[in-house]
Amino acid sequence: MSDSFAKPRLASSTGGLPSAVGWAQLMMEDRLRPGDAVLDATAGNGHDTLFLARLVGAGGRVWAFDVQEPAVLETRRRLGAAGVHQATVIHAGHETMREHVPMEFHGRLRGIMFNLGYLPGSDKTVITHTETTLQALTSAIVLLAPDGLLTIAVYPGHGGGADEQRAITEWAAALSPSAYEVQLIRPINRSASPPECWAVWKRG
Ligand SMILES: C[S@@+](CC[C@H](N)C(=O)[O-])C[C@H]1O[C@@H](n2cnc3c(N)ncnc32)[C@H](O)[C@@H]1O
Repeated sequence: MSDSFAKPRLASSTGGLPSAVGWAQLMMEDRLRPGDAVLDATAGNGHDTLFLARLVGAGGRVWAFDVQEPAVLETRRRLGAAGVHQATVIHAGHETMREHVPMEFHGRLRGIMFNLGYLPGSDKTVITHTETTLQALTSAIVLLAPDGLLTIAVYPGHGGGADEQRAITEWAAALSPSAYEVQLIRPINRSASPPECWAVWKRG
């Protein structure tokens, strides 16, 4: 058995099943193609932005948002170090995404990732908030292309996270099944409030 087969690339740090973000990345990898236009709603340290930029390649487009200047700078640094130029990192809340993504891309984004909560290793008081998260999700499904994929990594375990999770559950449950397919992946044999991955597919 080859080494790469023995160790799944997107296994969690324990070597087990993928994390919430790992699932989101797997699904994006499966669907995105070079030249696609995509959006990272929570740039943070830029890992997901770089991941998306690599999937869509030099001919693609990426917009990334964060409210924290250090996150914006770190994401730009990471992209620059990787020689990536197809990404635009915007220092603004994701609730403003419709104003920042050019009109000709509205309804054309093939992938949108949200990785909620706070930035690991940074100011844990800067977190995503239910009201702006819902505004951003409402915009995101407008910007999404038919056959496009929206993923949301949700962390109910931190302060405010459970409210955000409840609101996302209500929002997702209200999406018309004739227009969207929605799935939730989460660990079920852990006692606390484990991170979960939501996937919303817009019917083509
Ligand atoms: C879990 S981290 C994101 C991690 C990131 N995707 C990565 O690959 O490193 C969540 C990020 O959301 C950001 N954030 C909080 N409120 C936001 C908002 N309204 N709009 C955009 N980003 C926001 C935080 O500043 C933080 O950097």
